[in-house]
Amino acid sequence: MIAWKFAILVSCAVLVVVSPLRAQDALVDRRIDSLLHMMKLEEKCGQLNQIPASWSPERKSHLTDEDAALVRKGLVGSLLNASGSSSVREIQRIAVEESRLHIPLIIGVDIIHGYRTIFPVPLAEASSWDPALVEQSARVAAIEASSAGIHWTFAPMVDIARDPRWGRIVEGSGEDPYLGSLMAAARVRGFQGKRLSDSSSILACAKHFAAYGGAEAGRDYNTVDVSERTMREVYLRPFAAAVEAGAGSLMSSFNEISGIPSSASRWLMTDVLRKEWGFKGFVVSDWTAIEELIRHGVAADRGEAGKLAIDAGVDLDMVSRIYMKELPELVRSGKVKEEVVDESVRRVLRMKFKLGLFDDPYRGINEEREKRSILAEDHLRKALISARKSIVLLKNDKNLLPLSKKIKTVALIGPLADDAEDMLGGWHASGKAENVVTILQGIKNALPSSAKILYTHGCGIEDSVGNFSDALDKVRQAEVAIVALGENERMSGEAASRATCDLPGVQSELLQKIVATGVPTVLILTNGRPLTITWPAAHVPAILETWFLGVQAGSAIADVLFGDENPSGKLPVTFPRSVGQIPLYYNNKNTGRPYAEKDHYTSKYLDMPNTPLFPFGYGLSYTSFAYSDLKVSSPTISSKDSLKVTVRVANTGSRKGEEVVQLYLRDDVASVTRPVKELKRFARITLEPGASQSVSFVLYPDDLSMYNLELKKVIEPGTFTVFVGTNSEDVMETKFEVK
Ligand code: GLC
Repeated sequence: MIAWKFAILVSCAVLVVVSPLRAQDALVDRRIDSLLHMMKLEEKCGQLNQIPASWSPERKSHLTDEDAALVRKGLVGSLLNASGSSSVREIQRIAVEESRLHIPLIIGVDIIHGYRTIFPVPLAEASSWDPALVEQSARVAAIEASSAGIHWTFAPMVDIARDPRWGRIVEGSGEDPYLGSLMAAARVRGFQGKRLSDSSSILACAKHFAAYGGAEAGRDYNTVDVSERTMREVYLRPFAAAVEAGAGSLMSSFNEISGIPSSASRWLMTDVLRKEWGFKGFVVSDWTAIEELIRHGVAADRGEAGKLAIDAGVDLDMVSRIYMKELPELVRSGKVKEEVVDESVRRVLRMKFKLGLFDDPYRGINEEREKRSILAEDHLRKALISARKSIVLLKNDKNLLPLSKKIKTVALIGPLADDAEDMLGGWHASGKAENVVTILQGIKNALPSSAKILYTHGCGIEDSVGNFSDALDKVRQAEVAIVALGENERMSGEAASRATCDLPGVQSELLQKIVATGVPTVLILTNGRPLTITWPAAHVPAILETWFLGVQAGSAIADVLFGDENPSGKLPVTFPRSVGQIPLYYNNKNTGRPYAEKDHYTSKYLDMPNTPLFPFGYGLSYTSFAYSDLKVSSPTISSKDSLKVTVRVANTGSRKGEEVVQLYLRDDVASVTRPVKELKRFARITLEPGASQSVSFVLYPDDLSMYNLELKKVIEPGTFTVFVGTNSEDVMETKFEVK
């Protein structure tokens, strides 16, 4: 066919495809306009009001009589924390059958890493460096949550965190904006599925917008004071990726940023989010964040707080009830334009249409579907895979691991060894301890019944005094001591910052006494943040970082302990030696006086090295890998060219293994200072023992770009250094030049 005829055919085809979507949007907008036309001002403001459902054992999720009355008056647009198909059906019935305009509610819940089949916490899943796996777990969460009547999740949490004192580091994907962006997009795709109107899709909500992880001193809710450059290069990137992936909502954060609380920041909520990024969804505030503008000291009262937030671009008021109570008067008095309210109502209604709530407010929920979906075999299978890939092998001297299944006597000691509840991690939605495979259970399942497993907890997680005699007796009878230590799930997550990052209580003391027996010891860490495990790192021969792995924790840990799974996780966060080093992250600036051993007047501590205990990207395997032949496709390129980088990786060990090959880049000289390295690509490969393969990456112009003095995104000529390796420190390097 002649090319021009083909071109016309294609463009007509594209036109046909595109126009139905546009036509559908136009139809929805017309339906929204007609609804808006019918709505009283109170009903408009009510659409922007989100209240929590009530809960009781006998009535499960329900509305109090008072809240049901508000729903009937059209004064509530959204509910949070309602779940259960029958409960949600009754709540939604009140909204659509007993209100004047029959507008359905949108129901949101924190489905962060599973609804009932609880997956590893997000920081653990980030350790898999496997976006496809993360997307899959978000998909399972959406299937289960939607079957329970949930329309919207307050996830993914995409806050970059460089401070392990901050408890919410557990909810995100660590310190790197590139890895964090890929994980953010993967979760949005997993939650939202192919079409939002599919009954198994739920609306995603990227949070907490923005820079919440930059809290000074790692103290939750604390002041954030970062430059716009750092905002754009670090904290905003995962949000941009979530928006790019189609996230239908964002949540404004509690914190201020350099003097302006996020929920009052027009720069964030309108200039960046809508004008620069073209975001078409809606923004919900965090819990009472609008009313907290008063405590921030930028609003004298609720009315002023409400005006700041709605004018900034915060569409939905979570729990303050300011939009329901004060906003109508703000409009009547002329302090807030009604068209501002109308625009927010449009955004919320548009998402309700996209979710199909106006076509079927119940989205096909029924108890049968819910029962079939919850803890389905396939879901549990996927949770096990995710848990296995989230485990990071930090140390394995003399290949103590994997242990043989022929072991006759093993001691299992520690407060986390038979702990079910904590394996769920924070924000575990409707997850139940009864569904968790504990470490003890996992080991029992893995070993023959003839094996003797001598278990005792040895101490509590937070005990201040320890009596270790029973534990030490058991250890002395064993061939190997497996010691399960760490944090409980309440020591990370919201309002859970710690001023130290040590093992809590007397756990370190217990560990030291166990190691002193001379029995070979394996440390299993269950925790929600990097821990300053300096002593274990120096004295314990084998260490597994397992975070909080969810319902399949014990099975996944046993699979790694006994070699059914070769660990392949890599740290998404730096492990400092001491909290005194914090903030400590890999993509730091060089400074004018970088540390030099022979030069006193350089950046260092007198009492500790600058280096981390374990660097970003670090993780061992039961096999070993060798890197060679690092090449670039050309020593010089123009700023419009792409560049191919290849490296050869060989499995030099004796068993099959997976390796996450990492590529970092440094802009050697630029008009502003640049990080000493930045993660730009990674690839997970599998190699049989003795095999090798060439791994290729392509860098595009955008990968070389930076924000210049005027904060414009540019590519500046000059040399770049490419680093490729097994973690952010153990790398090969080469250079190329941009002409
Ligand atoms: C909390 C959290 C936020 C959560 C919301 C609803 O305060 O900051 O992450 O989604 O309230 O539970």
